[in-house]
Amino acid sequence: MDKIVALAKRRGLMFQSSEIYGGLNGFWDYGPLGVELKRNVRQAWWDDMITRHDELSIPAGAPSTFDMVGVETSIIMHPQVWKVSGHFDLFCDKMVDCKESRKRYRLDHVKGRWIESVKRVQGEIPEGAAPERVFITTMAEIDERNDDIEKKALQYFGLRSKDAGKLKFVSEIESLPPVEQFVDVIAPDARSKATLTTPRDFNLMFKTTLGALGTEDDAAFLRPETAQGMFVNFKNVCDSSRVKIPFGIAQIGKSFRNEITPRNFTFRSREFEQMEVEFFCHPQDSLAWYTYWRDRRYKWYTDLGISSDKLILREHTHEELAHYSVGTADVEYAFPFLPAGEYGELEGVAHRGDFDLRSHSQGKLRKEGNELVVEAGADGKPKYLGSGKDLSYFDDQSRERYLPHVIEPAAGCDRATLAFLCEAYHEDKQPDEKGEMQERVVLKLHPRLAPVKVAIFPLIKKDGMPEKAAEIYREFKRAGITAAYDQQAAIGRRYRRMDEIGTPYCITVDGDTMSADTVTIRNRDTLEQIRLPVKEVVDHIAKLVR
Ligand code: GAP
Repeated sequence: MDKIVALAKRRGLMFQSSEIYGGLNGFWDYGPLGVELKRNVRQAWWDDMITRHDELSIPAGAPSTFDMVGVETSIIMHPQVWKVSGHFDLFCDKMVDCKESRKRYRLDHVKGRWIESVKRVQGEIPEGAAPERVFITTMAEIDERNDDIEKKALQYFGLRSKDAGKLKFVSEIESLPPVEQFVDVIAPDARSKATLTTPRDFNLMFKTTLGALGTEDDAAFLRPETAQGMFVNFKNVCDSSRVKIPFGIAQIGKSFRNEITPRNFTFRSREFEQMEVEFFCHPQDSLAWYTYWRDRRYKWYTDLGISSDKLILREHTHEELAHYSVGTADVEYAFPFLPAGEYGELEGVAHRGDFDLRSHSQGKLRKEGNELVVEAGADGKPKYLGSGKDLSYFDDQSRERYLPHVIEPAAGCDRATLAFLCEAYHEDKQPDEKGEMQERVVLKLHPRLAPVKVAIFPLIKKDGMPEKAAEIYREFKRAGITAAYDQQAAIGRRYRRMDEIGTPYCITVDGDTMSADTVTIRNRDTLEQIRLPVKEVVDHIAKLVR
């Protein structure tokens, strides 16, 4: 992971926000190449979800066509939206403070995963041996695995150095269990040393104030998800466009969460971008559509180059389901900063039932047994009122009126970008122009995602080659294909510079170009070179990169 972070900085993919002032935890900037990479991720999603959504296969039994439309809604919405959606009361993480170090920890609410990893740790040790000790530390310390940490851990558990093999280091963010489990299951002998406060709720929404008065009545929130913008516009979209159920509303935009412990590069940040679809369908068809979107979204990542042995689809257990969800599956990726066998969420595909449209119509809902009921306040009236608008749908063919169910594929643009970057990073050895093997860093990005699609080099800086190469470069730009021009250094070094940023094709203008109007095109992955007439290169590359 360190190498990827170093490359990101060296080649202008991502930088820490406000770096010259020491940075701001949980915020990231994208540099000249990063912005192109992220724009391509966004574009690939928009093309596949909206522009070309109906070119892909449709599941058996489901209608063969459906509409997908886009919206762009505001980041600050009416505060009632968040009260009714449940975010105001429920969008919290559990937090504990360490009294000794004054550090703050976010308790991983996905308890299932923690228990799983504890079992795995315990399963690894021979029968009858003392249980392994789990030492909770920071990710940076784990990466370093330095002696100090080992010493600290041995001391903490009262072990001698020959027992170091009994230690397992985990980062607090990925694996910290609720305090009771930490003490009882993992480190019973650490009970007396536990210095964590009891867990408490921490709301993740960023608060701001509207207007000049700045009273509590003027409080508003930066949206923690883009989804609500689609729900509150459901009626507007139905009334203003000719969409018929089933159809989806899609949006790409920034969301904000005051994460307690942002970490792992851009994986968990406080400002990030989401790519979400709210797909509205008849309740009767909703399970079929849930399966459809779950499988289709998994395929999106593999189609764009994530290998399936690093990508899983994980159905949530009952305890993990969000308060609104009837079923959720996560697309998860084995990020290199995670311990072997662990995965990080790229996207959640949730069956949200009619929760959102009902709440925005009737008021905040709460689960009572298996039923959703309007939550009452102390006075017995609805705690948070909905809009009172009828958000049902009338099917003019079947003459049926109903509240649609929603399937929500919710992806993170920054997480997807990071996963594509991690997957693409390779090191190998390739011969240079003298035939000597040279170390090479290569980003094997899918051509659709590569920040620069093609580079054009004059072989030498004379005989009209720079002018000819510049002319070809301009033709690519005119065709809307991101291109680079480079005439500095030996050709081998220029290739390696392009390999390092994932440019899939390099075109060289040489002596034959000047006499026969042909160029060579080198493929980043196979290193094969073909020769084509100059007049064909733009069309040829355009087909390969779109
Ligand atoms: N509307 C549903 C929703 O927002 P979510 O699972 O909380 O669901 C969807 O978020 C996706 O947004 C996640 O799968 C992840 O890719 C991305 N995401 C969420 N929190 C994030 C954070 N703090 N930093 C970066 N990406 C995040």
